[in-house]
Amino acid sequence: MKSDDRAIGIFDSGLGGLTILKEVRKILPKENIIYFGDTAHVPYGSKSKETVTTYSLDIASFLESKKVKMILIACNTASALSLEAVKKHIKVPVLGVITPGAKRAAAASKNKKILVLGTESTVKSQAYPKHIKQIDKTVDTAQRACPLFVPIIEEGLLEGNITDAAIRHYLEPAKIFKADTVILGCTHYPVIKKRIARIFGKNVTLVDSAQEIAKETKSLLTKNACLKTSGKAKVHIYASDSPDRFAKLSARIIGGKIPKVRIKKLNI
Ligand code: DGL
Repeated sequence: MKSDDRAIGIFDSGLGGLTILKEVRKILPKENIIYFGDTAHVPYGSKSKETVTTYSLDIASFLESKKVKMILIACNTASALSLEAVKKHIKVPVLGVITPGAKRAAAASKNKKILVLGTESTVKSQAYPKHIKQIDKTVDTAQRACPLFVPIIEEGLLEGNITDAAIRHYLEPAKIFKADTVILGCTHYPVIKKRIARIFGKNVTLVDSAQEIAKETKSLLTKNACLKTSGKAKVHIYASDSPDRFAKLSARIIGGKIPKVRIKKLNI
């Protein structure tokens, strides 16, 4: 089979999508990746559908101009609000993170109670409860918006008192629902997964979309005969503002040396 060397395009409002990039690299180590973090507009989670869709379309067009072979919307907020619009505008296949997370959680839950943690806009969109109901009508879903988590993570506060206080503030009251499965419905949250896990204890399963979407990416590329089968992988990272700051924080999430981050201003 001929090697398809076009990159996979991945985007998020900021650092969160790097948790997806990491899983994609594990499962598809040969693939070239172009990552875009919209640092000029983070957080997306408090913004309207119209605004998030404008940003998402602009980023997707930029990735398309770089001749990517597919796009992963590595952001729950943009997936919940803008997936359909991006799919309509872009010629290459586009995957979002909501369906993979919903599927995995529905399969994991035994007591049929799933708690969804996400941004205000993701929670308001009802995207997870709707998807979960389509998979299994008997599942009961509760949601909790955690608006401070994204700014805390973008600030590099991945541990310490402030982070733990915010986690307790949002999650202690949510324990009353007695879910056995909790969806980390924002791609930033896996960065503080260990600390979130402490609140719920070991009998609760924390689910994020990263592994699932990485698997779906591999299946899609295999089905379309678009896998890159030879040569070393290249990862290019772009940010819409403050690239040096983004580079330092990125290294804390993906590990290794501080990567080179190029600036690409959006047209908005
Ligand atoms: N990481 C994104 C998400 O999954 C965006 C968070 C934000 O910018 O508020 O929802």
